[in-house]
Amino acid sequence: MYQTLLTSLEENILTVTVNRPDKLNAINELVMTELGKVMEEVYTNEDIKSVIITGAGPKAFVAGADISEFNGVRKDGVAKSKKGQDIFSGIERSPKPVLAAVNGFALGAGCELAMSCHIRIASSNARFGQPEVNLGLTPGYGGTQRLVQLIGKGRALELLISANMIDADTALKYGLVNYVTEPEALVTKSRELLTVINSKAPLAVAGCITAANAVFENTDGYELEAKLFGECFATEDLKEGRDAFLAKRKANFKGK
Ligand code: COA
Repeated sequence: MYQTLLTSLEENILTVTVNRPDKLNAINELVMTELGKVMEEVYTNEDIKSVIITGAGPKAFVAGADISEFNGVRKDGVAKSKKGQDIFSGIERSPKPVLAAVNGFALGAGCELAMSCHIRIASSNARFGQPEVNLGLTPGYGGTQRLVQLIGKGRALELLISANMIDADTALKYGLVNYVTEPEALVTKSRELLTVINSKAPLAVAGCITAANAVFENTDGYELEAKLFGECFATEDLKEGRDAFLAKRKANFKGK
């Protein structure tokens, strides 16, 4: 179904693996298009409750945009950036949680892809960076914005303008990742966390994502929070959550 992605759906968790290991999973135009397509599937397939994005092979999550596709046409650059920004925003706005399991280099577009996900877990061999200035470029897929949002302007600018890479422990210290695991524990830890999240009320989970995103959008987040809170009161899941609590049993949410 996809030429550059591997997908597998197990226990309502869709694993998406960027599969160009010989190019360290660099994102070319086809990978980007297919990431957009897979997100359409995530939005519409009711069997998918959450997503893991990772890279093929032991070395890289994604080592950047595919440098061999860069050319010097300014108009193409703008369109390329906007396409990537739209697709990565689609990940960020996904009502279903998306977790980046960062299994190696997450550079340039790879770091940007990881940052568009809601949660990041890194294996101890992960390396993060925005090395675009090495190539005479600024980041184009949201990196200048999300890196500042996640780690603050001072640290973000240092990474952006020095092209320095940071290791997994530094990424943890900066708040760029939620956890660091040994490489062989990365998938288990990612699935464990998503299994917990998948047991929660899906509409409420989606509401949390929407409200948190609003902090960085031109929206009144408190107004939006009140609206989302109010909408939850109309759901069957709120009744189920309340009944389950009072009956001291586990809630069985339906996403309705
Ligand atoms: N675009 C295209 N190809 C890439 C790539 C990218 N972003 N990153 C790696 N590759 C390719 C290499 O060209 C090489 O291909 P080849 O075997 O056909 O020559 C292959 O992947 C393996 O990479 P290599 O550089 O040999 O591995 P390494 O272990 O020596 O170095 C990196 C690893 C990540 C440090 C190095 O590949 C690198 O600096 N990549 C570019 C990172 C970057 O600038 N990303 C931002 C782009 S905007």
